[in-house]
Amino acid sequence: MEIRSAAVIGAGVMGSGIAAHIANAGIPVFLLDIVPQDVKDGRGNDRSVVARTAIEKMLKTDPAPFMHKKNARLVTPGNIDDDLEKLATVDWIVEAVVENPAVKSDLYARLDKVRKPGSIVSSNTSTIPLKNLIEGQSDRFAQDFLITHFFNPPRYMRLLEVVSGPATRAEAVTSLSTFADKRLGKGVVQCKDRPGFIANRIGTYWIQAAINEAMDLGLTVEEADAVVGRPMGIPKTGVFGLVDLVGLDLMPYVSRSLLKTLPPGDPYRDIYREPELFTRMIAEGYTGRKGKGGFYRMNKSGGARVK
Ligand code: NAI
Repeated sequence: MEIRSAAVIGAGVMGSGIAAHIANAGIPVFLLDIVPQDVKDGRGNDRSVVARTAIEKMLKTDPAPFMHKKNARLVTPGNIDDDLEKLATVDWIVEAVVENPAVKSDLYARLDKVRKPGSIVSSNTSTIPLKNLIEGQSDRFAQDFLITHFFNPPRYMRLLEVVSGPATRAEAVTSLSTFADKRLGKGVVQCKDRPGFIANRIGTYWIQAAINEAMDLGLTVEEADAVVGRPMGIPKTGVFGLVDLVGLDLMPYVSRSLLKTLPPGDPYRDIYREPELFTRMIAEGYTGRKGKGGFYRMNKSGGARVK
């Protein structure tokens, strides 16, 4: 099956970037989010405001999610209540909503009622195993379902982890992987259905290790990144800048999910334990670039050391 049209559900950090990159391949794509509460309360009237704002924001983001600004015209903003039935026309639906199994599960049940038979549905989850995501869904849904794990920012990060389940149709895996390779320019890696897949298992390990070590040594964010940024192959952002980009709030989900899989007494458990600093920063709204800022913003406004 050739993918000629797509939809992305969830216009946050990842969903909006994935939609832009699909548009970069010349493919029309719906970008749907929720109808915000103030619109439901009658205090606003743009029911697709979240997706529309995400597209406008991407036109000003650096590095640019769109290859050409005109590609933004291929992204149609909408909301999941009014535009659900439009999904009957698309070949591939990417789910990129919050990392909450119940929210994802409710959404899949709604999607399954309207989507075109044989269309592919994939989740961008970082941590939830595929076998849990398809629990309670129809056999038909399980056959067309995959995980496509993009990395932030989706236009620039070449890796795409693809996870299929025992019920997934081989043709869905091949169509999606070929499309991702040829049209989206991704390096596709097929992964087993294990928490953290491949990259997060390794990535979380060294991010958490760097943060714990920097705290123990009382380093500044810049000092720590000078050691673990460029030498570890992430020259532009460094480790702390990468956490700001990914979103601090996502890190505990990833590490908790990995902790669940490690037996008690495993020496690696200490590495994956969430630093208390994360809990504090998230509670204060320092969730990274999507919030009030993260490590770098804190640093500029006076919080000098990683503590
Ligand atoms: P985010 O918090 O930036 O965006 C989530 C969006 O989903 C929000 O705009 C929210 O309004 C919307 N949403 C929530 N419930 C919805 C529903 N029922 N229908 C439609 N929209 C709904 O989250 P982010 O960071 O973009 O993460 C999305 C997914 O991608 C998660 O599963 C996460 O684990 C995964 N992921 C995140 C990465 C990152 O670097 N932030 C990297 C790779 C995967």
